[in-house]
Amino acid sequence: MIVDENYAKNSSWKPDLFKGKVAFITGGSGTICKVQAKALVALGANAAIIGRNPDKAEAAAKEIASLRPGATVLGIGNVDVRSVQSIKHAADLAVSKLGKIDFVIAGAAGNFLADFNHLSSNAFKSVISIDLLGAFNTVKAVFPHLKKSQGCLLFVSATLQYTGIPLQTHASAAKAGIDAMSNNLAVEFGPLGIRVNCIAPGAIGGNGGDSNDSSMTEGMKRLGGAKIEQLPKEIPLQRLGTTTDIADATVWLFSPAASYVTGEIVVVDGGMWHSGLRT
Ligand code: HXC
Repeated sequence: MIVDENYAKNSSWKPDLFKGKVAFITGGSGTICKVQAKALVALGANAAIIGRNPDKAEAAAKEIASLRPGATVLGIGNVDVRSVQSIKHAADLAVSKLGKIDFVIAGAAGNFLADFNHLSSNAFKSVISIDLLGAFNTVKAVFPHLKKSQGCLLFVSATLQYTGIPLQTHASAAKAGIDAMSNNLAVEFGPLGIRVNCIAPGAIGGNGGDSNDSSMTEGMKRLGGAKIEQLPKEIPLQRLGTTTDIADATVWLFSPAASYVTGEIVVVDGGMWHSGLRT
């Protein structure tokens, strides 16, 4: 299934599951987070899409809003998650326009392949600053609003940090930090009524989820390497993941069906990392 204008009708979820809710999504113009946003909006939420590039944030907001008549989706560009002031400004703007924040996805990330010899200290710091510090800054910015709404926080990590993967020292370190931060904040925020979880996507293709799919994520094409063609048949569930797989897990974690779930890292990878496979 694709997260399109028929998602609310055809998915397993109630069409108005998130009516009246507001989502705040960093990295929301990117392939995976945009589809997470689409699912929330299709099921009734309004949203703020936060990004560095204002044109991309605006275009993503328009595309997401088109899924449901009456949806309000703001594109907030020129935001750098490495600056807590920048992301605080975005959170305040979102609340001034949308009234509140119930759901947060801290999804902004940057990555590239580099072996240790070609990974400068500044390159390592860049990825840590976007992925890990950026996720922390996002929580700093939205915390007062989430406390008020007793909302939910969702991090996006990966599975590469569970094994050792060449060329990904920087991203693995950042994603391991995100897993740890998610666990810690779940414990600290539980008594405040805020649930905190993390999704760890495996190898995610496009909506079709096979290696020939032209909509395969840019990240996958760029980071997947030469083995990408054989990968689907080696994954236990025999296919690449889809952006819809991540969106469905997101819907579950934000829904009342997960009201007793916090501090979980939900791996959505078709069983890939348990099988010892790695991209
Ligand atoms: C080695 C590199 C490099 C590369 C950048 N650097 N790309 N080093 N190999 N391919 C180094 C630069 O030389 C510089 O170090 C330092 O990193 C900072 O680079 P800048 O370009 O100045 O930084 P910035 O503009 O902040 O760029 C951020 C970036 C960039 C992450 C480095 O690659 C980027 O924005 N990428 C696009 C976003 C992206 O990839 N999104 C998809 C993420 S998917 P020096 O020493 O020269 O100053 C994802 C999923 C991960 O994250 C899960 C696992 C698969």
